[in-house]
Amino acid sequence: MCAVHVPPGPGRCGEAGVTLRPTTSGTARLQRFPELEARYGPLTPMDSGMQSRVYTTPDGAAVVKVYRNHMGQHRTEARNMIQASMGDWLLGVTEADGVEVLVMRRFAGHPLRAADVPRALPGLRRIVAELHTQQGGRVNVGRVRERLLRFRRALAPYPLEDVFEAVEGPLERGLLDQPAAFCHLDMWHDNILIADELNAAAKVADGNGMGVEGEGDVLLIDWTRADWDDPLRDLALLKTGTLDLLSAARSLEAALSFLPDRAPATLVRYRAYLALTTLHDLYWFLMNEPYEFDSQKEFKLARVRHALVRLPEHRS
Ligand SMILES: Nc1ncnc2c1ncn2[C@@H]1O[C@H](COP(=O)(O)OP(=O)(O)O)[C@@H](O)[C@H]1O
Ligand SMILES: [Mg+2]
Repeated sequence: MCAVHVPPGPGRCGEAGVTLRPTTSGTARLQRFPELEARYGPLTPMDSGMQSRVYTTPDGAAVVKVYRNHMGQHRTEARNMIQASMGDWLLGVTEADGVEVLVMRRFAGHPLRAADVPRALPGLRRIVAELHTQQGGRVNVGRVRERLLRFRRALAPYPLEDVFEAVEGPLERGLLDQPAAFCHLDMWHDNILIADELNAAAKVADGNGMGVEGEGDVLLIDWTRADWDDPLRDLALLKTGTLDLLSAARSLEAALSFLPDRAPATLVRYRAYLALTTLHDLYWFLMNEPYEFDSQKEFKLARVRHALVRLPEHRS
């Protein structure tokens, strides 16, 4: 979920289809997914995200993503992966054992941590630039307006006028009415995988920094939210969700290196999306994790204001 650091909830218990199956050592093992395990072999829990639990197959070559809800997100994610030219990673989508499932190749790496960010930047820049070359339709400005109204109502008690103004000004001047590109829209650090060091070293030794199968050292996952939108919104999410693991100055410097150009109109629009994304995150915490709201507000406002005062407010 969005560009925020939230501990994933514990896996649900007591689901339908839970059976006990003897393991090779003779002890009974809890088997939650008899149908899936008949197809893929015993599944080992690997990770759990906001929307799913992820298991790995016995050979370690695939991950089985089991969604927490039943909203067809496995098919949405598969469609988006194909749109993003990631169809090679997809091994299947299925419904079994009463759950919705996406199966994909396992990447030999881990979600980005602060120390990984500098190493990830070149690969990430290539991925994002390539993704945003796909253009189609226009940004839904009405939706931006609706979201702002919602944030205004919920966040009214807090002094955020400068942040609201950074979006509302450009919105009213028509600057957000732009062509849309295909965007990931959830580029927080948990959704960006980087090759483990050993693996990366082997690839460098390989001569071209690419793996034997032609894959890079960074992989963008979790395509459920991908949609057509302003690429600068995607880049704003990348800053608040990932680059802000760095110090404020380094984060902004890295963020600017992703922009297609530094024209004042681009910077004003990027500034607007940084503000909008921050308002979204504050709203999300208020609604979902109220105990974390104050500390997140302090961090996120410091970061957005650091950027707002350094980026132009107007085109000229
Ligand atoms: N293809 C993959 N290879 C390796 N790890 C993966 C892969 N897909 C998911 N993971 C791990 O599972 C976690 C959750 O997957 P994700 O698709 O982000 O689910 P969610 O939508 O629940 O956040 C990731 O942060 C990552 O650690
Ligand atoms: Mg995720």
